[in-house]
Amino acid sequence: MTGTFRIALAGLGHVGGGVAQILLTRGQELAQRAGRKLQLVAVCARDRAKPRRTDISHLPWIEEPVSLAQTNADLVVEVIGGQGQPALGLIEASLQAQKAVVTANKALLAYHGARLAALAEKEGVPLRFEAAAAGGIPIVKGLRQSLITYGIDAIRGILNGTCNYILTQMEATGRSFAEVLAEAQARGFAEADPELDVGGGDTAHKLALLSALAFGVPPDMEAIRIQGIRHISRADIAFAKEFSYRIKLLGIARKTPSGLDQRVQPALVRLGTPLADVDSVFNAVVAHAGAAGPFTFEGRGAGEEPTTSAVISDIVDIARGESGPAFGRPAKDLHSLPAAPPEAHPCPHYLRFDVRDLPGVLAEIAGHLARENVSIESMIQRGRRPGEPVAIVMVTHHCPETNVMRALEAINASDMVLGPPCMIPIEAS
Ligand SMILES: NC(=O)c1ccc[n+]([C@@H]2O[C@H](COP(=O)([O-])OP(=O)(O)OC[C@H]3O[C@@H](n4cnc5c(N)ncnc54)[C@H](OP(=O)(O)O)[C@@H]3O)[C@@H](O)[C@H]2O)c1
Repeated sequence: MTGTFRIALAGLGHVGGGVAQILLTRGQELAQRAGRKLQLVAVCARDRAKPRRTDISHLPWIEEPVSLAQTNADLVVEVIGGQGQPALGLIEASLQAQKAVVTANKALLAYHGARLAALAEKEGVPLRFEAAAAGGIPIVKGLRQSLITYGIDAIRGILNGTCNYILTQMEATGRSFAEVLAEAQARGFAEADPELDVGGGDTAHKLALLSALAFGVPPDMEAIRIQGIRHISRADIAFAKEFSYRIKLLGIARKTPSGLDQRVQPALVRLGTPLADVDSVFNAVVAHAGAAGPFTFEGRGAGEEPTTSAVISDIVDIARGESGPAFGRPAKDLHSLPAAPPEAHPCPHYLRFDVRDLPGVLAEIAGHLARENVSIESMIQRGRRPGEPVAIVMVTHHCPETNVMRALEAINASDMVLGPPCMIPIEAS
């Protein structure tokens, strides 16, 4: 690979602004790494008049993102965002014009990744997305290039900094989900519309990409069961701690004897294990790589610098000639696996019942659980005055989720509980 490597940049926001700054100020170092000069040849954003951190006035400004595909760039960086237009059209047009593409856009790749990977291969150009899953953590390269010898049995990740910040703050301050979310929004750690984060959708976008890399399936949002963190109460966080656990929103993908289990859900993880100790806005992924064992990747999953770092690393890889399929296998070899049924992964469960403290209540709950073969490992019941509401909290032995659900349905239908029971699975990490 020789000659100047030309780059066009779509998006000059948090990520694009950082990418422009590094390309314009760290040219010599990047040239050493890439083995050739990198040159930013065109930029595009929505508002040309908006002040930018780095002087880009000397660069050609392109009004329509899709027109970057018609420039003389060798590579187009898409950091506009959004799963539809104009980002999608820009990536398609760039690949069709045989330009390499680097994107940080997990939402877009979660829905269109398999098709775009096939298009990139057909056109003979690389498509890279290190920044799209867990920001600055090199987990995409880790799964695509490094952990390939023994295959992957399971990946579990804290993939959304907003949720991890909220859960960490709830534990540290004893405040409710709503209070901590409002504070996170005021401090800029959560979006004005937080649903994509707290509802689990953003974690699912990233999980879809990691699953594709780990298991050779096409990214498929339909295959992922998604539950967010809105229902997690401060009581659950406090009780979990009493049992020596923390509650984390996890993206999980694992092989089971009856198919691939892909889910986003809050889970209890034992204190002292790698995922339990990941606090605040940090992300982490534990990848179980067969006989090679588990590997933990941890770091900043979002923010200008970590994300810029991942985008620049993709650019440099491509500039020095690294190619290969986007998801580590030819797109034609990405095949869906059967979705594992809920009972495919028996595990312990945390259960909380809000009941009136009357004689026989505990025996009735235990009876419903026993009828479904759910046995109790440990339990907390705080005494209050007879007849007052009380929480009965328990941790079960390993059992299939379906058994627990049937028992909870029966318990919920009785008049002894004051509200729907809470069930949170317990994950090894
Ligand atoms: N921020 C992070 O920490 C992070 C982490 C990982 C991945 N990502 C991903 O990186 C991508 C960019 O995120 P970001 O945080 O940098 O977003 P952002 O700050 O909102 O920046 C978006 C940029 O795109 C431009 N833009 C928006 N609509 C456009 C249009 N129709 N035509 C041309 N330009 C348009 C905006 O132009 P103006 O500046 O003129 O408004 C802005 O420069 C997203 O896919 C995101 O999911 C972000």
